[in-house]
Parts: sequence; structure tokens; C-alpha cells
Amino acid sequence: MMKWLSVALALAAPSHAYIRFGCATLSVQRLDPVVEPGNIPSAHLHQIVGGNAFNATMSGDIGNKATCTTCSFSEDLSNYWTAVMYFKHRNGSYKRVPQYPNALLGTLTGGMTIYYLQDDFSSNGNTKITAFKPGFRMTVGSPTTTSGSNPGLRYTCLQDIMTRGSETNDFPKTACPAGIMAIHHFPACWDGKNLDSPNHQDHMYNTVKGMFQNAGACPSTHPVRMPQLAYETMWNTSQFNDKSMWPTDGSQPFVWSFDDSKGYGTHGDYMFGWKGDALQRAMDSTSLTSNNLKTQSVAEANKCAIKNTVSEPIDGWLEKLPGGM
Ligand SMILES: *[C@@H]1O[C@H](CO)[C@@H](O)[C@H](O)[C@H]1NC(C)=O
Ligand SMILES: *[C@@H]1O[C@H](CO)[C@@H](O)[C@H](O)[C@H]1NC(C)=O
Ligand SMILES: *[C@@H]1O[C@H](CO)[C@@H](O)[C@H](O)[C@H]1NC(C)=O
Repeated sequence: MMKWLSVALALAAPSHAYIRFGCATLSVQRLDPVVEPGNIPSAHLHQIVGGNAFNATMSGDIGNKATCTTCSFSEDLSNYWTAVMYFKHRNGSYKRVPQYPNALLGTLTGGMTIYYLQDDFSSNGNTKITAFKPGFRMTVGSPTTTSGSNPGLRYTCLQDIMTRGSETNDFPKTACPAGIMAIHHFPACWDGKNLDSPNHQDHMYNTVKGMFQNAGACPSTHPVRMPQLAYETMWNTSQFNDKSMWPTDGSQPFVWSFDDSKGYGTHGDYMFGWKGDALQRAMDSTSLTSNNLKTQSVAEANKCAIKNTVSEPIDGWLEKLPGGM
């Protein structure tokens, strides 16, 4: 009886089954230590948040190498990155779209909102959630995808800063008063063996349904349930909403830094770097509101910085995207 009770308690659905936090911009440069390690510069421009160990090549336990982070949880020295959004003027010039932080999370400089869900917002799915391991990395999406079929890769046309839902798999076709939110949900089923794979995706299996809905069961090939990682990036398009700068044929003017005007090629990269067992302790908490994770102030998070390895013009009106994409 006692044994049965304790199992039932361990599996009881917690009321708050996710952590959500802001990370300020760490760097905007052409580096990609997961897909193009050692390439200085990499093919296209990225916006990066998280720990200051970020560089062209990264190996080993990032949580032991970084000394500060732009994230509000100070034990999270991971790196998170996506491509960068540009506006393409009807005259052919490009200008970088600024980022702004989630209104709920204070005045961080740009950056992203990061989520780690147990199973969905209110349940651990009655399973143990295994944290990522030191050295773990993965990507979701691909710059060469032309289908937009992953329900976890989406856009929201923000009517105001709190607009949620109404997701599309391509860039919004009309001007969005409060900007465009780009959403990246990562797969949450692991093969239990590999910290990476040649395409940075095969060691994971995607059961994501989008919109933070309860993910499906993990298959026998990828049996280990990991946190459901997601990014939200708020792109402030408001200085570009003047239609006289938009293409004369009426098409939408935003492109990713790898020159994708449809938006299907949106992708995200993740390099695990939580200190010690901090993330596992959080995932083991029955309610994640009592997760005992250490936090730092917005000012401290904004202060963490790195010296760019690649320096080139990325702002102002440019004739070509960085890297000539
Ligand atoms: C990043 O790597 C480059 C090339 O190996 C090196 O010159 C530079 O010092 C590194 N930057 C940091 C901040 O470690
Ligand atoms: C395009 O328009 C912008 C904004 O007016 C201007 O600064 C830029 O020089 C123009 N580019 C070209 C190629 O005319
Ligand atoms: C978005 O950009 C506009 C125009 O540059 C600026 O006035 C506004 O403050 C920005 N909004 C946020 C939330 O940063």
C-alpha cells in the first residue's frame, strides 16, 4: 500500500510543469558551432543568447566553461540561437529587424524567451523527464526546407505584445502592428545514446504538435522523454510597416539571413550548458514553481557579453545580406 502510494504521488500531475525565462542578446554574428564548427565566418548571420563560452568551436561541458549568462536563470550557461530577420526594401536594400524582449520578463536587451516544458504546461505526462547531458546539442528545422510541415515552427502576427495563437507556417502576409513572433519547438524524444548526430537531428524524434500541446508518446527508437524546449523571438517590424517601402507586387518584405522570403527554412540551434544537475533538479520538481533555480537581475543578465570573433557590417541599409547570401 505504501509503495503504491509513493508511486502515485511521484507521478501526480504537477500544476505548473514548465520553466519560462528571458535571455538577452549575447551576440549577433556569423558563427555556428553546431552546424559549421570552426568556420569563421559561417554562411549566414545568427542571433545568440546564453553563456559567454559561445564561439566558432565548442566542445565538452559548456556549463563549466562559461562564466556568465544573459539568461535570468544564472545556472543556465547554454547557448540558444536562430537566424536573423531582415527587411528587404523594394529598392533591393536590406536592414536588420531589431528584437525586443517578452513583455512579461522585464527589460532584457532583445534576446529570446526560452521554455522547458515537462510534457505540456500543466503535466509531466506521468513520465520521468530526463535533462539533457553535458555536450548535448541539436537543431530543429533547416534552411533548405521548402515545406513548412513541422507544426513546431511557426509565426504569429502580433496585433499587440500579448497576441498568441493564429500561427502560420510562413511569414505573415500583412503588416503586423506589434511585430512578428518566430516560434521554435524542439523535439523531446532522445535515443538515449548520442549527444549529437551527423545532421544534428537524428538522435532526437519529433512528437511536437505545436502550440505547446501535449506531445505524443516517444517511439522505441527514441524512448527517453526530455524537456520540451521552445524559443519565442519577438521581431520589432514597426519601423518597416510603411507600405511604400514594400515590394510593388504586394508580397511581404521580410527575409531570414539565409535569404528565405517564405519563412519555411526557419531553424533553431541548441547547445546544452546548465551547471551541474540544475536542470534535472528543476525537472524533478513536482511543481516547477518551486524549482530552487538561482536567478540573477536583468542588469546582470544584460551585462554578460562576448567579444565578436567575426566583425562585419550587419546594420544600416546594406546592399547584400551578410555573407552575400
Ligand atoms: C574564439 O575563437 C577564436 C578563434 O579560435 C579566438 O581567436 C578567440 O579568442 C575566441 N574568443 C573567445 C571570446 O574566446
Ligand atoms: C533604399 O532605400 C533606403 C531608405 O530610403 C536608402 O537608404 C537606400 O540607400 C536605398 N537603396 C538603394 C539601392 O537605392
Ligand atoms: C519598436 O520599434 C519602434 C520604432 O523603432 C520603437 O518606437 C518601439 O519602442 C519599439 N518597440 C519595442 C517594444 O521595443
